[in-house]
Amino acid sequence: MKKILVTGGLGFIGSHTVVELQNAGFEVIIIDDLSNTTINVLDNIIEITGKKPDFHQIDLRIKNDVKNFFDKHQVDGIIHFAAFKAVGESMHKPLDYYENNLSALVYLLQEMRDRKIDNFIFSSSCTVYGQADELPITEKAPVKKAESVYGNTKQIGEEIIEDASKAHGINAIALRYFNPIGAHESVKIGELPLGVPQNLIPFVTQTAAGIRKELSVFGDDYPTSDGTAIRDYIHVVDLAKAHIAALQRLINKNNKKSFEFFNVGSGTGSSVLEVIKAFEKASGKPLNYKIVGRREGDITAAYADTTIANKALNWKTEKSLDEALDSAWKWQLKQK
Ligand code: UD1
Repeated sequence: MKKILVTGGLGFIGSHTVVELQNAGFEVIIIDDLSNTTINVLDNIIEITGKKPDFHQIDLRIKNDVKNFFDKHQVDGIIHFAAFKAVGESMHKPLDYYENNLSALVYLLQEMRDRKIDNFIFSSSCTVYGQADELPITEKAPVKKAESVYGNTKQIGEEIIEDASKAHGINAIALRYFNPIGAHESVKIGELPLGVPQNLIPFVTQTAAGIRKELSVFGDDYPTSDGTAIRDYIHVVDLAKAHIAALQRLINKNNKKSFEFFNVGSGTGSSVLEVIKAFEKASGKPLNYKIVGRREGDITAAYADTTIANKALNWKTEKSLDEALDSAWKWQLKQK
């Protein structure tokens, strides 16, 4: 049985990916520093799959701790989620973001080089495209100068991996996520935003639950059909499955280059107002919202052309926006 290290494995996307890895027959070791999640997620994963992943609370910025981990554990691949991800915060704490998101990456790749570990999957983001000139966005779209420090850590991260993969023969895939939402159908794992959510869906579900007074819709003067911005929302379980598909591609040596990247989205663009309407249908509740000005740094529209990912990964999304919103709402109702 192949053993896979999942860093950030107790986070939102990480936990769903651990479940899918276990379902696919992989043995999982999780590293998480619990900075943005809780240890309960581990028990909830075990409740879903009946299998206990090996867990280590390690801060990947501490090089010696990373080395000690690899001295004791052999793995056949790494899926690296552990990173800071708040766009606004990244502008105020650039050095913390560069340290956490890049030093950990370098330390992991150094261990892979030194111990001849192959197969690396990296959490990247569609933010690397900025406002693309053409929609839907294909992998051929140019990477634009990042608007945020967070986005820059993803761009630099991809460059580091590409250089390391060429020099040291580490096969790697970066998955450029669009907007992951939703929760596992068991409603045992989901998104756990700390404090006031910055992303749309957790803000929507918290507003419907009465935790927030109203949702601010950031801008209705975009050049779109209803004036609100368009994004590509992908169910987190579909996204999790893309990681297993990417890992299989590397393990089966089906990759065409040592470093590849793929767009992981649903392929469908939805406006903020469309999301609100779909959520009202899924929850059966009207949502309290008001239109306010645009949020700084936001782009008009981003949605994926998934043709290349569908073919290369032999993967496609299976769940609809309605299902994703329904699961996000059920998850919200379970929170105290
Ligand atoms: C954001 C990040 C992106 C990151 C992604 C991770 C920015 C500019 N981009 O994407 O780099 O990879 O999260 O999930 O922050 N909206 C509202 N009201 C709200 C919240 C959001 O109207 O209270 C709108 C936004 O203007 C946007 C859409 O909802 O049009 C989605 O926003 P969000 O969930 O924050 O995702 P992105 O901005 O696409």
